[in-house]
Amino acid sequence: DAAPDLELIQAHIRDVPDFPHPGILFKDITPLLNHREALAAAVDGLAAPFLGAGVDHVVGLEARGFIFGAPVAMALGAGFVPARKAGKLPASTIGQAYDLEYGTATVEIHADAVTPGSRVLIVDDVLATGGTGKAAVDLIRKAGGTVVGFSVLMELSSLRGHEKMPDVELHTLLSV
Ligand code: PRP
Repeated sequence: DAAPDLELIQAHIRDVPDFPHPGILFKDITPLLNHREALAAAVDGLAAPFLGAGVDHVVGLEARGFIFGAPVAMALGAGFVPARKAGKLPASTIGQAYDLEYGTATVEIHADAVTPGSRVLIVDDVLATGGTGKAAVDLIRKAGGTVVGFSVLMELSSLRGHEKMPDVELHTLLSV
């Protein structure tokens, strides 16, 4: 397999200053989604390390993890599971709370989505503090699943999110 074209991917991520708050430099992936070769390179690059790894389910983290997670699931011959913010999923759920800078948040999946023994790859666009990702890891394990890996497009490496999940195989396409 050819290595993903990281320059093509990087060239289609747009820096937006002062969004959503003054002083925040937002990494906007919509130009990448809108570019067919860059989108394909991103999806292939997220999936490639886990081809043949026996992944049963790809768990995508709301909201941008849904966009990448479903095509990665198809590339791996796996099912897709949305991990959503509290109160969004209609049927019976299991959840995992995590700390935010101010307060807490909860990530949920349907209780019957990940079955004991199922092999799970988590997919998201950005790993920042790692709070969301670590909650997803804990949630999948609580459901009895095995976390095969965590595939992200971008890691904001100064925030050291990977240190929250030292026992997870983290695959990052771009460190920014
Ligand atoms: C962003 C991003 C990750 C998470 C990373 O999602 O897509 O899911 O934050 O941050 P962390 O590593 O510090 O937890 P956001 O919460 O903005 O949700 P959205 O995609 O629904 O807007």
